[in-house]
Amino acid sequence: MNVRDTLKINAKGHLEIGGADCVALAQEFGTPVYVFDEAYIRHMMRVYRDTILEKYDGKGIVLYASKAFSCQAIYRIADEENIGIDVVSGGELYTAKKAGFPMQKVYMHGNNKLDYEIGEALDAGIGCIVADAYSEIDKIDCEAKKRGMVQDILLRINPGVEAHTHAFVQTATTDSKFGFAIADGTAEKITAYAMSKKNVKLLGYHCHIGSQIFEKQSFVLAVTKCMRFAAEMKKRLGFELKTLNLGGGFGIWYTDEDKQITPEGYAEYLEALINEVKAQAKENHMELPYLVVEPGRSIVGEAGVTLYTVGAIKEIPGVKKYVAVDGGMFENPRYALYESKYTPVLANRVNEAATDLVSIAGKCCESGDIIAEKVYLPKAESGDILAVLSTGAYNYSMAMNYNRNKIPPCILVKDGKGEYIVRPQTYEDINRNDVVPERLQKH
Ligand code: LLP
Repeated sequence: MNVRDTLKINAKGHLEIGGADCVALAQEFGTPVYVFDEAYIRHMMRVYRDTILEKYDGKGIVLYASKAFSCQAIYRIADEENIGIDVVSGGELYTAKKAGFPMQKVYMHGNNKLDYEIGEALDAGIGCIVADAYSEIDKIDCEAKKRGMVQDILLRINPGVEAHTHAFVQTATTDSKFGFAIADGTAEKITAYAMSKKNVKLLGYHCHIGSQIFEKQSFVLAVTKCMRFAAEMKKRLGFELKTLNLGGGFGIWYTDEDKQITPEGYAEYLEALINEVKAQAKENHMELPYLVVEPGRSIVGEAGVTLYTVGAIKEIPGVKKYVAVDGGMFENPRYALYESKYTPVLANRVNEAATDLVSIAGKCCESGDIIAEKVYLPKAESGDILAVLSTGAYNYSMAMNYNRNKIPPCILVKDGKGEYIVRPQTYEDINRNDVVPERLQKH
């Protein structure tokens, strides 16, 4: 097993995250529970921030893509680390506002922003909206006019770069619901349209080619295409590129089938993008644009583990062996959605040889409710603490109450001590919005 700095095995043979014993955390907070290492998250934010500072003279900003893991505490950390955030809904915007996040450093995304979300963003004084439809431009223009202001926007464009990742998380293929394609001329048309509006100020372009991508070349190619397109727009429409937002998407380690990139390795990815922006600017006689990147998964993904207690164990002779845990697709739907792979370990006996081939199942009434299919563990017993690694991104943020299971709490570990950043849900929380009409009430 490969472990990152955040994960260690202690003298008791227990897994540690951020200096906290996972078995002790499971006892203190119960299971299932999401655990995050604060030091790792901060380190990753700094790596990206400092790369822009050192390699691009600070002419840009790192936005934490908060869809990966959104709660008030993470926005506080991003603010303390002096980076920005991207939000994709009124809900994320509201959470950031509640956390006191500076709204000027917030960018809003989404392929179908609702009218009220645009209104909320403008009222909040959001820094920039990334428009992805004509109707959005109209709405932003109209709402900005009502408020006597001019709103900064970017346009989402599709550079047509295919990246090797799951089809559901590719975003720059020709049939994508995101963006306007450079290739078919629609990106040019919407540029002209946005330029014609009085109450929006078009600063530039945004692209995001997908997620969990390891090929540096795909990212670099996207930069090349966006910069050349911007140069073309200067010639044809007199448009000056001020800002270029390259999205996120850097892959992380889930299993040994994935590359393991060190934090410094991620800096190299960003540097490769920066070098291409500089090269293209020079070649096309353009000013260097303000550069924006939006990593989500690579900031929080490997900073997180999920802890479970092993329950029922069932062996189907000659077929397979199930080890069931007290979580499931309601707190990690990624196997059900993408057949994602994970590395599970027994946190209370990490050093024991993993010789037993098992499938980790959840507790939902659904055969596809799997956390990890066909993985090796030491012979598990009921009561063992199972840790699934690299669950910091897109786990809590995609959790749901299927089967009316409670969404687990989130714990932030600092200097070996854990504390709640999201409290456990209660059955009462799940019932809070239920209404029984008078005629159905039990009298
Ligand atoms: N910017 C934009 C516009 C995005 O759409 C995304 C992710 C990001 C940034 C951050 O990408 P990251 O650095 O996290 O790869 N639920 C899926 C992932 C969906 C990603 C959606 N967009 C999963 O669990 O794999």
